[in-house]
Amino acid sequence: MRNRLVIGNWKLNGGLAQNESLLAKLAADVDGRIGCICAVTVPFPYLSQAKSRLQHSGIAWGSQDVSRFESGAYTGEVSAAMVAEFGAKFTLVGHSERRVIFCETDAVVAQKFGSAQRAGLTPVLCVGETLAERDAGLTEQVVMRQLDAVIAAQGLAALVGAVLAYEPVWAIGTGRTASPAEAEAVHLALRQHVASVDAQVAGDLPILYGGSVKKSNAAELFAMPNIDGGLIGGASLVAEEFLGIWAAL
Ligand code: 13P
Repeated sequence: MRNRLVIGNWKLNGGLAQNESLLAKLAADVDGRIGCICAVTVPFPYLSQAKSRLQHSGIAWGSQDVSRFESGAYTGEVSAAMVAEFGAKFTLVGHSERRVIFCETDAVVAQKFGSAQRAGLTPVLCVGETLAERDAGLTEQVVMRQLDAVIAAQGLAALVGAVLAYEPVWAIGTGRTASPAEAEAVHLALRQHVASVDAQVAGDLPILYGGSVKKSNAAELFAMPNIDGGLIGGASLVAEEFLGIWAAL
């Protein structure tokens, strides 16, 4: 059976005191469950705090991005190996905010995916279409292109042990969630796409949904057969919301 996951993405939010209170509440309440993983991805400066507050809890932690480079003259970059030194298990790669605002191409995202794996991190590859792409009927074409770029660069076997997250750009931070049926259709298409090459890899690949997930809508999304959990933005900053989403997994 594939793992089920709830992963928080704090984005550019937090502060030492605020994190302290949030992490304490999460650490106290997240229960260990076989086959289920709870994690938070924090801004780089807070990896150390996440490690010290979560290392004896049932919650894993990670970063929201990594450099595609391992070391050298790349001012401002943070390598996957540096992130791993803080006990991180995960890193997001290819979040739509990185793709859109920071102009990350499919090829760069594929390199980051490889860098993460070489450092022992589990990459959470984010894919998703914009509203214009959805309206033009291009949803599947866009998400397959984003996934295929990673498969072409790293090989299909790189998906073993990795996590995929479908996050429609029009549902992120907008309060407009994809309906369970809309999300399930894309998740199923992604899994079938991988299964056309290797059914075992496809069957074991967790595919998370992200985009305005809250405790009030998590259960209906997670009930879909190909939705294996959630990648949570705004609601991961509020302990009660995030714990409610975890409870719905
Ligand atoms: P929201 O949950 O705030 O819509 O963000 C989703 C997201 O981008 C998680 O990576």
